[in-house]
Amino acid sequence: MNALLPVAQLQDRALHFVESDGYERATSLGAFHLRHPGDFDFRAGVELARQYYLPADVGPDAAFRGYRTRDLSRSLLGYSRTGHDQDELLQIEANLWREYLPRDAAMLLWRMNDLSRAVLTDLFIRAGVAPRDIDTVAGGLSKNQALQYCIFNHYRPEADQPIGLTAHKDSGFITTLYTVEPGLESLHGQQWIPFDPLAGHFTVVLGHSLEILTARLKNPVTASYHRVRRMTKRSAATPDRFTFGVYIGPRWDQRLYQYDVAGQLSDVGTFVDFQRAKAAEMEYEFHPRVDSALRQSTDSPCTDRGLSGLSSPTLRRTITLPPMPDEHEASRLYPAWDMVRARFECDALRFDDAHDFDRALNDGFFLLKIPDGVALDASDRFVRHCFEPRVDGELARYTGYRDCIVPGDYQGYFDREHDQWENFYVERNNWPMLPDQVAQAGEAMAEIGIGILRATLGHLGISAAEWDTLTGGLTAKRGHQMLAFNHFRSGKRVRGSKFHRDSGWVTVLRSTTPGLLAYIDGGLRCINPEPGYFVINFGSALEVLTEHLPHPVRANIHGVAETIRCAARHDRLSYVVFLDSDLHGDLYQYHDGVPVKVQTVKEFATQEVSRTYDSDGHLL
Ligand SMILES: [Fe+2]
Ligand SMILES: [Fe+2]
Repeated sequence: MNALLPVAQLQDRALHFVESDGYERATSLGAFHLRHPGDFDFRAGVELARQYYLPADVGPDAAFRGYRTRDLSRSLLGYSRTGHDQDELLQIEANLWREYLPRDAAMLLWRMNDLSRAVLTDLFIRAGVAPRDIDTVAGGLSKNQALQYCIFNHYRPEADQPIGLTAHKDSGFITTLYTVEPGLESLHGQQWIPFDPLAGHFTVVLGHSLEILTARLKNPVTASYHRVRRMTKRSAATPDRFTFGVYIGPRWDQRLYQYDVAGQLSDVGTFVDFQRAKAAEMEYEFHPRVDSALRQSTDSPCTDRGLSGLSSPTLRRTITLPPMPDEHEASRLYPAWDMVRARFECDALRFDDAHDFDRALNDGFFLLKIPDGVALDASDRFVRHCFEPRVDGELARYTGYRDCIVPGDYQGYFDREHDQWENFYVERNNWPMLPDQVAQAGEAMAEIGIGILRATLGHLGISAAEWDTLTGGLTAKRGHQMLAFNHFRSGKRVRGSKFHRDSGWVTVLRSTTPGLLAYIDGGLRCINPEPGYFVINFGSALEVLTEHLPHPVRANIHGVAETIRCAARHDRLSYVVFLDSDLHGDLYQYHDGVPVKVQTVKEFATQEVSRTYDSDGHLL
């Protein structure tokens, strides 16, 4: 039993220590106990901690096992074992939890992360950090852009090492640990003292970056210099020692800061150099993928390479994609994706099967039956002719759009240099310039897309009172509604279009020929049109909004194969209605049940567009 560490709980996002000197003792010892919130369910975390190192297997525990050998290549940390102590580690950055870890474990970690962020913010303020400096010193903590990862430690009693875990100070600001078994001890003066667990509480360990930041302030924080005792061999009935937790520290690509005595921030070097020195001190190999990511990020000015946090709150990690095939290779090599189907019945979106809505949100695509009364003859005709030179007569209003000036941002004709496709974009305000029946088709497609968005937000449990704000007016039929016509010039021997995510909420696609490919579950799949159906896909605005909700929506990555045509066959054509927030609005993301502004729509659109049309075919 240990009553050494002070005890606190978080209430209204502030720490309350049980004893009056609790905070002082916490900052002197470098740790404290934090009461578990009553509604946290730790089971998935405990299961993962006890099984992740076991060999891969089939069966109900499959998702919890096999992490020693699993492909975790998008993580810069991943699985590691040093050879000098008994500990083996699984460390995964927060933005990969949903992808790499069992769903319930990811959910728990996000809750622990949000708790930990609130605790750290309060500790910063108590230590005298100016609120305006927090995002500078902690690399965008308020937007989850700091270095935030989980740690699952397994102490291997069979490993013949002198110690459980080599003595060290945690490199970051804090680590919030779920721990049930003694073994952790910390150096205080000349003495190692136990930091035994307290039932119903986390052990929060204060880290080296916090110590450095506050070292010259009036109330400096001491980081705990700790180790884990060697574990002896156990009977089969006694499980191995484990702990798991969440870490928050500065980003790999940022500077490390310290306040001077006058309370001014000064920079004391790079965080990565500091980390390298610490790894050397522990005789650990410094994470090889971090080094290579840092090198690449200096070589390439344009993309984040996973140096968590992200340089923009909405910029998702770079994904390396297979090369874009031509359409013959595509149909030969990649299976068609079996999309779920839905229809509108009396204005309600109905899927064929009750679980299909969730599958559609997960896949990012589904097929929607074209409602009776939606006439597409005119718009089908328009896309066949709009890129042709203007002619008189019957086709006069259907031709000549390459030279057409359309008022407003990002509209009119686009000749995509690196792709087969050329596009004609026109926003709803300008639809009167189109033939009436084409505008009517656009209106019908927009209504369908908005209906799908409303059904989706309702399905996700988002309060209808918030929809108008969150979607920049789109759910109330305002927002930004763009008709886009696409022509794939088969005479150009390049990809049809680059792999990309649509930036908005929902896209309604009219296509009648194969060629669309999506990146689903780590592989390419053909997204083939079905007569009588639109292809619906979800965009990045919805993915960003729902990233931390229990049912996040996937904005699928998709592109078009190189179109190959003999002279007798018409080039590939398609058209869509893109549904975006108003360009003057903001993009939101849910955190702890509250929508938080993360970026302006304009900044987001600029970032996504530049990635969609550049020449880099393999990276997104
Ligand atoms: Fe540690
Ligand atoms: Fe797209």
